[in-house]
Amino acid sequence: MSTINEVILNKKTDLNPIWIMRQAGRYLPEFRSIRKENPDFIKLCLNKELSTEITLQPLKRFDLDAAIIFSDILILPYGLNQEVEFKKNVGPLLGELNLDEILNLNDLDFIDKIKPVYEAINLVKKNPLTNNKTTIGFVGAPWTLLVYMINRKSPKLNLVKDFFINESKIKKILDILDRFLKIHIKHQVDSGAELIQIFDSWAGLLNEKDLKKYIYNPTLSLVEYTKSLNIPVICFPREIKNYKNFCDIVKPDVISIDYTTNPKQILKEIKIPVQGGMDPKFLLTDKENLKKETKRYLDIFKDHPYIFNLGHGVLPETDPDMMDYLVKTVKNY
Ligand code: CP3
Repeated sequence: MSTINEVILNKKTDLNPIWIMRQAGRYLPEFRSIRKENPDFIKLCLNKELSTEITLQPLKRFDLDAAIIFSDILILPYGLNQEVEFKKNVGPLLGELNLDEILNLNDLDFIDKIKPVYEAINLVKKNPLTNNKTTIGFVGAPWTLLVYMINRKSPKLNLVKDFFINESKIKKILDILDRFLKIHIKHQVDSGAELIQIFDSWAGLLNEKDLKKYIYNPTLSLVEYTKSLNIPVICFPREIKNYKNFCDIVKPDVISIDYTTNPKQILKEIKIPVQGGMDPKFLLTDKENLKKETKRYLDIFKDHPYIFNLGHGVLPETDPDMMDYLVKTVKNY
């Protein structure tokens, strides 16, 4: 069994597995050189040979315990025929949302459009570099996808003022997302994904009173579905104010915490396996500092099932040598 599964299923506390959000990405020169030749990011995600190669790049350099498939949460709206474009220094820009078109979409058209993602998972899983490692599939949480689909760009600090104005439209989109996210999860699992992470990057934008409708209920539906496939699920409701309530209601197998959250309080309150937490900015400092902070997390969770990761994705300006040092620090702990 892979070390990550030992932590999740057997609650092992002495293995210290590690993988990193955005481990395949812009901080690696070998990624940047592929990216330079492939200006269309979605097309790159849908090139099964290149997305397999990018997924495996960090595994060639570092002793990581998982491969996370190189794709994006916004491949889902793309599969629903909403245009998605990634603009340099701006981020994702989405086209107009045509609800009628989405409501009439059939499963096979959706699957056909993003099929290379599933083929890449299959190739990654079969590659010897992932022997004894966990192949991770992922989706965006319904709330975060709704934010991008309606806002049509990153909400950065807040949502557009009239975001909630059309409640019946929002309800229809959430229903569509529930249906197609389950299809997307199922196909990733059938292609070899052994663990699913649900990214809710914008969970922190909501007030307490809206959490049930937009986060708890829609996420619970996906968690229960993934569990019914016998696949464990990690939730990352970034900057949600109350991780304990989230865990009590949504019941993921693992909770991934962000870097604004106090890990000692998490240890006190939460009984399920924990992942992540360290601020990615520590990778931009020096080795001594990085080691100290890494050990701080490992010490706090030393008697708790814990998967080392960061509190958000690795930053593009990170020196790969610092990543190497981080992985070695965790492995030699
Ligand atoms: O973790 C991995 O290595 C797997 C691949 C992965 C990517 N995006 C590749 C990517 C994963 C798991 C994601 C998730 C994702 N995508 C999230 C959730 C996690 C988070 O960061 O909060 C979100 C919100 C997105 C949407 C997205 N994709 C944004 C906002 C951007 C642009 C800004 C940024 O952070 O890079 C992307 C582009 C993107 N997705 C890149 C990569 C490697 C950079 C592409 C490039 O410009 O070369």
